[in-house]
Parts: sequence; C-alpha cells; structure tokens
Amino acid sequence: MQYAKILGTGSYLPANRVSNDDLAKKVDTSDEWITTRTGIKFRHIAAENEKTSDLAVHAAQHALKSAKLTAEDIDLIIVATTTPDMQFPSTATIVQQKLGITTGCPAFDVQAVCAGFIYALTTANAYIKSGMAENVLVIGAEIFSRILDWTDRTTCVLFGDGAGAVVLGVSDEPGIIHSKLKADGNYLDLLNVPVQIADGQICGTPYLKMDGPGVFKFAVKMLSQVADDVINEAGYSQDQIDWLVPHQANKRIIDATAKHLGLNTDKVVLTVQDHGNTSAASIPLALDNGIRNGQIQRSQNLLLEGIGGGFAWGAVLVKY
Ligand code: ACO
Repeated sequence: MQYAKILGTGSYLPANRVSNDDLAKKVDTSDEWITTRTGIKFRHIAAENEKTSDLAVHAAQHALKSAKLTAEDIDLIIVATTTPDMQFPSTATIVQQKLGITTGCPAFDVQAVCAGFIYALTTANAYIKSGMAENVLVIGAEIFSRILDWTDRTTCVLFGDGAGAVVLGVSDEPGIIHSKLKADGNYLDLLNVPVQIADGQICGTPYLKMDGPGVFKFAVKMLSQVADDVINEAGYSQDQIDWLVPHQANKRIIDATAKHLGLNTDKVVLTVQDHGNTSAASIPLALDNGIRNGQIQRSQNLLLEGIGGGFAWGAVLVKY
C-alpha cells in the first residue's frame, strides 16, 4: 500500500497590503464593521502586471525548495483556481512552462472555487495511491480582486489575492489518511460570477454576487458535517486532531466549525486576519504559514476543510 505524503509547502502574497482603513477611503465601510463581522484586517492585492500563474509559480518554487526537489522531478501539476490567466489553456500548463518543465508531465486545473484546494489535493492523492504519479505539485492560486465589484461593500472587503502550494510524494505510511468531497449544485444562486464569453461578447455580470447570510448558514452546517464524516470514516476521534487548517473565509465560520469539533482556538491555524478570503489559495497559504511559524510539527494530525460556490465542499485528514 502506498500513500501520499506532504514533502514540502510554499506560499506567496503580492506586495501590496491593503488595510481595512485603506478600503474605508474607497467604499462606505469601517475597520470596526469588517473586523467584527469577519475577523479580516488586511488583504494583499496583485499588481496590474501580475497573473495568477505568477503567484502560483512563486509558491511552487518555495514548495519545491522545502521538498528538496527540482521542477523536473514533478510528474503531475494540479492548479486549483477560479481566476485563471486565460479562458484556456489551463493555468497549470502555464505554470509548467514558467517552471521550465520539459518532461511533458500532465497538468490541469481544478475549479471548485474556495474548495478547489481540497478537490485538487484529493485528486493528487488518488493519482499517487493508484501509482499514476510520484511527485505531484498541488497549487491553489487566485487573483479574486479582479472579479470584485469595488463599489459593492458587501463583497469587496472580504477577499484577497495569493497562492499556496504543496508537493506530495510517495510514502509507505500516511500521509493523507482520508478525504471526502461533496457538492450540491442546487445552491448555485447563493454565490456566483455569472459572466460568459459568447460570440465575441462578454455576457452577464463579470463580478462576484453573494447572499452573505445564506452562505454563512450553509457553510457552518456543511463544514461541521463533512469534518465529522472524515474523522469518523478514518476511525479517528476529534481529540486526535492536532490542528484544524480551515478555509479562511470568515473568523466566525471558522470559530463555529472549531466549536462543533470541540477544538480550542489554539488548535486552529488562523490567517484570515492577514490575508482575507483568498479562495482556493487560502488553505495552502494557512498550511504553509502554520508550518513555517512552527505551529505545525511533523507527525501531527491535520484536518483541512473548505467550502465554496457551487456549492462544493470537503475535508482531508492528513498526518504531516
Ligand atoms: N461595511 C459596512 N456595512 C456593511 C458592509 C460593509 N463592508 N457590508 C454590509 N454592510 C451592512 C449591510 O448593508 C447591512 O446594513 P442594513 O442592516 O442597514 O441593511 C448590515 O451591514 C448587515 O448586513 P448583513 O449582510 O446582514 O451582515 P452579516 O452580519 O450577515 O455579515 C457577511 C455579512 C460578513 C458577508 C456574512 O454574512 C458572512 O460572512 N457570510 C459568509 C460569506 C463568505 O464568507 N463568503 C465567502 C465566499 S464563500 C466561502 O468562502 C465560504
């Protein structure tokens, strides 16, 4: 039996760091409102000439270095993103080209919005367990600032840009212990960006639309349920979880999930205050932060979980 193990992690944030007070100069909001409703204090915003693939490549280079591998060792690239460089080709193939990989390894994108990294990690795990890949680069990268209506205070204060990456390799012990993916397309109207390209025209609104309170209720319920399922199906108990590494959308959603799991806040990796919601990038960014600042140690059990538009959601139990 072979497992997928985390060999290394990396992350990248654009240089431009924007505070709540900076935002309050542009839209009718306040540091007090944003902090109490979401826990967010800062977010990073990509420069005009930065693309999602650029953020992804920086994070990937850090992850490769920490895994002590070179780009040529990678035999599969999966990029989770909702804000790709182009309609096509995939951002993963652009990352492959920018990393200088000439082996012809497969590369593709996964689209599950804020659950994208959980979907991508689960897919990479399946490739490794089935013997179809040995060293997989899994990246979550987003420039959400480009799909926000900067006049809509109910959404523009919530998101940020960034990228996080993980290198998974083969191991004879876990590694990824168990994972579960879920989706329910009936909730499409709660959160979407309805734009399409058709006949040379951009049709529909190219900005994120969200029913905030509706998303909040659904997220708390489904994240608690899928976290329970993954722990139970793996034969683990809640007290064996050393760290919750959640999608960083909103501190109140994270607190509710941690409370449901009986986890103290000192067992939760929290970056939402510094990054905002970076969608598919938020979990690998939090994971890399937790590892680099010494919170997460080798052999500890981590529960990663996330939910996003679709709705799509899931959780992964990992021994780091
Ligand atoms: N600044 C000041 N006031 C604001 C702002 C703002 N940025 N945004 C909204 N308000 C006002 C509203 O206009 C409203 O005013 P009114 O009562 O005069 O009409 C008031 O604040 C309350 O608005 P609500 O939407 O009811 O506020 P709520 O307490 O639900 O908080 C929030 C809104 C933060 C969006 C919350 O619903 C939430 O966190 N939902 C989850 C959304 C989320 O995380 N989405 C991320 C994408 S999906 C994912 O990643 C899981």
